[in-house]
Amino acid sequence: MAKDPGRVLIFDTTLRDGEQSPGASLNLEEKLAIAQQLARLRVDIIEAGFPFASPGDFNAVQRIAAAVGTPDGPVICGLARAARGDIKACAEAVAPAANRRIHTFIATSDIHLEHKLRKSRAEVVAITAEMVAYARSLVDDVEFSCEDAGRSDPHYLYEVIEAAIAAGATTINIPDTVGYATPAEFGSLIAGINVHVPNIDQAVISVHGHNDLGLAVANFLEAVKNGARQLECTINGIGERAGNASLEELVMALHVRRAYFNPFLGREAGSSEPLTGVRTEEIYKTSRLVSNLTGMVVQPNKAIVGANAFAHESGIHQDGVLKNRLTYEIVDARTIGLADNRISLGKLSGRSAFRARLEDLGYSLDRDDLDEAFARFKELADRKREITDRDLEAIVSDQAQQPEARYVLKLVQVSTGTNLRPTATVTLTTSDGAELTEAAIGTGPVDAVCQALNSLARVPNELVEFSVKSVTGGIDAMGEVTIRLRHQGVLYAGHAADTDIVVAAAQAFVNALNRLVHGMERQPLHPQMASVPVAELPRL
Ligand code: KIV
Ligand code: ZN
Repeated sequence: MAKDPGRVLIFDTTLRDGEQSPGASLNLEEKLAIAQQLARLRVDIIEAGFPFASPGDFNAVQRIAAAVGTPDGPVICGLARAARGDIKACAEAVAPAANRRIHTFIATSDIHLEHKLRKSRAEVVAITAEMVAYARSLVDDVEFSCEDAGRSDPHYLYEVIEAAIAAGATTINIPDTVGYATPAEFGSLIAGINVHVPNIDQAVISVHGHNDLGLAVANFLEAVKNGARQLECTINGIGERAGNASLEELVMALHVRRAYFNPFLGREAGSSEPLTGVRTEEIYKTSRLVSNLTGMVVQPNKAIVGANAFAHESGIHQDGVLKNRLTYEIVDARTIGLADNRISLGKLSGRSAFRARLEDLGYSLDRDDLDEAFARFKELADRKREITDRDLEAIVSDQAQQPEARYVLKLVQVSTGTNLRPTATVTLTTSDGAELTEAAIGTGPVDAVCQALNSLARVPNELVEFSVKSVTGGIDAMGEVTIRLRHQGVLYAGHAADTDIVVAAAQAFVNALNRLVHGMERQPLHPQMASVPVAELPRL
């Protein structure tokens, strides 16, 4: 990707680092839906996954490359450890994209060299040069990351970066892998790289950072002031541990405070030219889509996309906002595409209006899925007077969790009340055509349902989260249930919505069970935690 000192590139890693969040794993359909929405958001680069992790991950990157990697679309990137097998798989997976990138990395901090890689500094420099050159022999666009750069000796970092650029890297990424840096430190790390790496003019400087101390966005903004021109971030800031730098916060900071940042990019302070290529009006929709599909709920007070970010609850604020919005509002809600939660459809709406509204919300369903979703919509419209965008999202997002389903919920029935022992009967159909029924007694109706489902699925798990929230206001609102199950230390989420919260709970539990069963089969490699097999390492 061409280097442009006056423009900040947005590299979205929701589908790679974001998907590494506990319990956020996505299936192929979900990944495709998110990638398509990221393209509408106009991010510059989509990191679509880690192809070497498993055949499923490889396939997802390849499908995204084919479907979203159009000539005028985003660059499609895959992650690869600095090892031949990883890099080769990555090149094959991104091949269908018109614009493709291999992102390869190796750790550079002494703590990682000593305890994880068991390599000397000289060995890591040699591996970097050899693996970047190999990647560059396969694609023109190669990004190299110095994992744990935030805790690496800057002088050693300069040496590794120089070797990577000499071997053909076109982007150099500086990750604060453990979220340890503070803004001034991170800014001077980038400034130092700009001064001390002799060939740095041949590469774009990128930053990547985790939010362990809540400083990721602040660190990135300081990095921009010091020459970083690519920001690696995720929608809603999802990612390992405390997450990654959040895309919407970065983009909106650069948008709202453009006059402040302009001079650092060599522009007039008053220039109205956007600093990023992102279409801000797609931000809210993208945030909802990612939250719905990953089951990672956005905290209400989250900057930019939280439910309260534009709510002026206190009387004094409302009075000021009514007189002049600027008294308490620095972002117009419409800038991020936040219209009122629209009453979009009603009982009489037809199939094409239904499909058009879903497409506008980022969901494009094939014929069968559309039929099923439309039937659910009609059913809901019989029970609920006004159907809002949030209701539609709730209908289709739990449907999007179905494609690789081992179990389908066919029936759930409960009897509960005062002086009754809550009892549930559930019927599941399985992917091999069997029909299974079980009844159980619980402390409440939801517990009874979960117990019955567990005795059918027979996969040991622990319920670690059960949350219910209403999708919209009103007594006829749908209840949205999110469930997280833990199995062998790994979390699996499921969510579902229904006007009956016991049904929603049963469906959410089945969705989580399906992910659990699929996850047991998939067992992908973690790019940063699994070591490269010795046979894969370059010969020195
Ligand atoms: O946090 C990190 O260091 C990473 C790298 C693989 C870029 O995610
Ligand atoms: Zn990361």
